[in-house]
Amino acid sequence: MVDKRFYSLPDLPYAYNALEPFISETQLKIHHDKHHAAYVNGANAILERLDKARQAGTDVDIKATLKELSFQVGGHTLHSLFWANLAPAAKTSKEPGGALGTALKDEFGSFERFKKEFSAAATSTEGSGWGALAFCGKTQRPVLMQIEKHNVNVAPTERILMVLDVWEHAYYLDYKNERAKFVEAFWNIVNWDEVNKRLEAIIK
Ligand SMILES: [Fe+2]
Repeated sequence: MVDKRFYSLPDLPYAYNALEPFISETQLKIHHDKHHAAYVNGANAILERLDKARQAGTDVDIKATLKELSFQVGGHTLHSLFWANLAPAAKTSKEPGGALGTALKDEFGSFERFKKEFSAAATSTEGSGWGALAFCGKTQRPVLMQIEKHNVNVAPTERILMVLDVWEHAYYLDYKNERAKFVEAFWNIVNWDEVNKRLEAIIK
């Protein structure tokens, strides 16, 4: 019988205090160790439930299960992308270079205009969700997304390059209800090299 594989929580690529003062150690630790871990565990629990039902030949509520699976896997995937597209402020550049820098200027007219639109998308996300920069394989254009929860308003063909978590659990300890301040802080800790690598891997 095939060994079934499951999701696992990736380690952060930096220390818990490495993103200070923009994200505090306490905030980052809870976010990664508790919230992200809960999505990994949640997704795996659904896979186990499906495995058992299939083995036993019992029915599952397919509609509810698939909805929950989309949410939990979306949460795990987006958090994994998020940690990797952040870096300590001292190690980041202010603006992207490479193919990404060119693509953003071609699409948005300037980096400042891109930043303004991305910030607006993140800040105005209804309830819990994400601001995201993606790349459309069909038009070869960068595109913004405003993802609600972890899985709503996601275009299936678009590859995600960069995300910003604007769930309250991402910033409430540091910024209370001031999401816009967290969004502004985000620009100090973007790992542009990583975001550029993701784009280059798609267009190569
Ligand atoms: Fe989160």
